[in-house]
Amino acid sequence: ATVPPSDPLRPLWHYTPPSGWMNDPNGMVKQGDTWQLFYQYYPQDTVWGPMHWGHATSTDLVRWTTRPVALAPGPEGYIFSGSAVIDRNDTAGFGKGALVAIYTIHDPVRAKAETRDHESQGLAYSLDGGMTFTKYAGNPVLPNPGGRQDFRDPSVFRDEARGQWVMALSVGDHAEFYASHDLKHWRFLSAFGAGVGAHGGVWECPNLFPIRDVQTGRDRWVLIQNLNPGGPQGGSGTQYFVGDWDGTRFTLDPEFAQRIAHDGPAWLDAGPDDYAGVTWNGAPDGRRVFMGWMSNWLYAQEVPTKRWRSAMTAPRDLTLSGIELRQTPSREIASLRGPRLPITLSGDGGRLPHGLLPSADIELTFATPPGSSFALELRNKEGERLVAGLDAQGWYIDRRNAGRSDFHDGFAAIHRAPRRRDTRVTKVRLLIDRTSIELFADDGATVMTEIFFPTSDFTEGSIVGRGGARLRDRAAWPLARNEDPI
Ligand code: FRU
Repeated sequence: ATVPPSDPLRPLWHYTPPSGWMNDPNGMVKQGDTWQLFYQYYPQDTVWGPMHWGHATSTDLVRWTTRPVALAPGPEGYIFSGSAVIDRNDTAGFGKGALVAIYTIHDPVRAKAETRDHESQGLAYSLDGGMTFTKYAGNPVLPNPGGRQDFRDPSVFRDEARGQWVMALSVGDHAEFYASHDLKHWRFLSAFGAGVGAHGGVWECPNLFPIRDVQTGRDRWVLIQNLNPGGPQGGSGTQYFVGDWDGTRFTLDPEFAQRIAHDGPAWLDAGPDDYAGVTWNGAPDGRRVFMGWMSNWLYAQEVPTKRWRSAMTAPRDLTLSGIELRQTPSREIASLRGPRLPITLSGDGGRLPHGLLPSADIELTFATPPGSSFALELRNKEGERLVAGLDAQGWYIDRRNAGRSDFHDGFAAIHRAPRRRDTRVTKVRLLIDRTSIELFADDGATVMTEIFFPTSDFTEGSIVGRGGARLRDRAAWPLARNEDPI
């Protein structure tokens, strides 16, 4: 068994920076055997500050090695969010196979002088797998056309069919698309999103990518569009759009347009704590792997961790079925499993075995006749508890009594998500990691991510079925990296 790290709030397997402040994942790209992960990072403090790109690498998406800071702010400004590509054919002239980072340059000096932000897009390249970078001398490559507020978070990908690089950019209340042949010169293509989808806040961190519809085998396109505030639980949130990309324009699928007109925005995650998530460029085997920042700008800077702040979500594979985006925990997570432990049945539920928590992978299948409900409850010796389950109103996670909440009014809350399947047999998978839970339900169409801060680890747990719900199948494994992450 793994000895939990001495810091009781640090996850056992989700990525966290050893120290300092972290927000958005950035520049995710698969390079050879390496999954590259960069992130918004401020090493000097545990609150947001002059932004750097931190760096971590992995060969399996779940065991990460922290690397030296990749990009540091300079006189030109802070290094905000962005993406990375591998320039196989040396279109930019930095070298064959260069890792090129495309990011927002945020100029705090001009922002202060002009009382509005000042953002443009720049490049930096690495010829040694992201260990050292050179900032391009010709920055910015996409200057601010003048007075454009919130002009940021370039997400670049290779549009193979058209032989061009494409950039999705967030611009206040919409996304814009640009094209380039050399990553250095960008031409405006089109805009999308004003008046469409959720607009309770600023659009940030877009991500446009192709994805195969498993129903028809046809390639469709998904635009992930983060926004803050205005998320499903208040504060930060991630919506998505399903449609098509013709090399110039992103158009909504008509059925999807109807769905959001009728049901409201399509949230990628219905919980409060999954923000700024985007996907890896260059993942093999047609995979589309997603990772988000497991926090919310409402309280990210106040959560009670010391020395470090924030974790990333688990890696998740995205699939598309018709107009429904689904998420499955990436299969590599199974490699973190310890021996499968038995959940003993008790009443219509069961009891979590000793040694399973505080971090676990739990799969539950319930018989759910109409009107029934079930819940999983985690407890510690202080009597604190975290509850997740399904009731007449749908899926929920209840952190009202899950530990510390004094740092933010409204943190202690119950969060709900509509159920997207009405079946007599209901499956749910829960990824728990000391201070977080990720719930995958409705074939991955409903995901809820939530953080919490118990006084001591949740070590006990039980499952209850009510109103005729009965636990049918169950499987549970402790999850841990096989070394202390720090
Ligand atoms: C999203 C965000 C991005 C920005 C970055 C700054 O959380 O606000 O829009 O680039 O964080 O750290």
